Amino acid sequence: MAMRKIQQVIPGLPASDGAGVKLIRSLGSAEHLRADPFLMLDAFSSENPDDYVAGFPSHPHRGFETVTYLLDGHMLHEDHLGNRGNLKSGGVQWMTAGRGIIHSEMPQQENGRMRGFQLWINLPAKEKMKPAGYRDIQPEEIPTVLFSDGKLKIVAGTYEGTSGPVQGGTTEPLYWDVELNSGKSFAANIAETHSVYVYPFEGSVEIGERALKTHQGGVLGSGDAVEIRAGADGARFLVLAAKPLGEPVVQYGPFVMNTRAEIEQAIHDYQNGVLAV
Ligand code: FE2
Repeated sequence: MAMRKIQQVIPGLPASDGAGVKLIRSLGSAEHLRADPFLMLDAFSSENPDDYVAGFPSHPHRGFETVTYLLDGHMLHEDHLGNRGNLKSGGVQWMTAGRGIIHSEMPQQENGRMRGFQLWINLPAKEKMKPAGYRDIQPEEIPTVLFSDGKLKIVAGTYEGTSGPVQGGTTEPLYWDVELNSGKSFAANIAETHSVYVYPFEGSVEIGERALKTHQGGVLGSGDAVEIRAGADGARFLVLAAKPLGEPVVQYGPFVMNTRAEIEQAIHDYQNGVLAV
């Protein structure tokens, strides 16, 4: 068993997106701060409606997947295909933009806490132009594994025989939400084929000799196992893992392709109303 160590620390930086939603961006805050195939991770958390109420009005995507995991709050997703999905506390929307989707993601609350994440996972070249699709995952579809020192929710992948609602795919993503009591440890095997990113959003964690504070992400190095210890105040963190694609990434805002020419095509298609048909 080879224990993975922290290879790179990626700070979460204040950012704003959509129509002015305040968030913290770690992965994706700069082009070199990615963890193939993960392109971006945004965390949002606010009790102040001014920080979120404007939401994400109609906008396009092409070439990757967006995964929205809502811890607290209520969002409504609508897209050009006529899909309409309510995302409520504890639920997930797994959206495959493929060749194109035009959608809005709007808060359905005018007060209270809005908290969650949006993760962007890249698609391989051969799947970037596949038809768009999406899946609304209800909170009760996400299994919770209880252990003596904490608990774990499985959005994607499998943990010790318990499988989450999202399985397979080319990059075989794994998406866990782990909560640990003060000073306690969590260990798991994660295939050495996978990139691993750990993101504490409550408390702090230690992995080997290094620590990650709240909203500091850690890209882990090679190995086939992880051991994560909660700091003095306990911790809640995401463990994200997937197979890297090893392909060139060219990003222009909401379009992520392999070449500059494909980006120009995406812009052209969007301007001509054929991005998502
Ligand atoms: Fe979006």
